[in-house]
Amino acid sequence: MPINAPQKSITLAMTGASGAPYGLALLKKLLDAEYRVYFLISSAARVVLATEHNLKLPSGPDAIKSALVTHLECDEALLVVCGKEDWFSPVASGSAAPKQMIVCPCSAGSLASIAHGMSDNLIERAADVVLKERGQLILVVRETPFSTLHLENMLKLSKMGATIMPAAPGFYHQPQTIEDLVNFMVARVLDHVGVAQDLVQPWGYDRRQ
Ligand SMILES: Cc1cc2nc3c(=O)[nH]c(=O)nc-3n(C[C@H](O)[C@H](O)[C@H](O)COP(=O)(O)O)c2cc1C
Repeated sequence: MPINAPQKSITLAMTGASGAPYGLALLKKLLDAEYRVYFLISSAARVVLATEHNLKLPSGPDAIKSALVTHLECDEALLVVCGKEDWFSPVASGSAAPKQMIVCPCSAGSLASIAHGMSDNLIERAADVVLKERGQLILVVRETPFSTLHLENMLKLSKMGATIMPAAPGFYHQPQTIEDLVNFMVARVLDHVGVAQDLVQPWGYDRRQ
């Protein structure tokens, strides 16, 4: 439940780790579920998105929003794109921010900044707000291998209540396509934020028939 914001709102940030298709698919699912999504994207994430998904987002929140609405065929009223220094955005303050935030994908750099409360851009500040307000912060971290520093940063955040969900899809649902693998991660994140999903059946589903 958001702090003071309208019901069903959430913050989604994409940073510059590999796995842009996860973030984009998550955005689509949250909008389809009629969440108001405060969407933040780093400059590096735009580079990764262009590399991995062939989607070249322009710079500037308005242009990004318009490109995403066209690409995702989503309801523009639900999508709020915030700039990296938009300090007056609701996500920048505990008095207005949604209580749930997902960083997907989460780079090692953003992981470190969030773990140390840097708040140097709106993604870091929004995450800091969710932590201080004791909300739900999910980081879909992607790097391999993890250094000791990465692991320490993840442990630090986990101890503060954040959920670390490495971008590591399972294979027990016998994925046939890349979309199946993407959906696996998206489904797990949606499960955690309480959004109904039919992308991947729950574990043991077949046995319950
Ligand atoms: C195509 C591409 C893939 C990348 N993959 C990763 C990755 O998987 N994990 C990671 O931590 N950084 C990755 N990086 C490097 C980050 O983008 C870089 O460290 C950047 O400064 C992160 O900034 P941000 O956290 O503000 O988005 C990648 C960069 C590019 C261009």
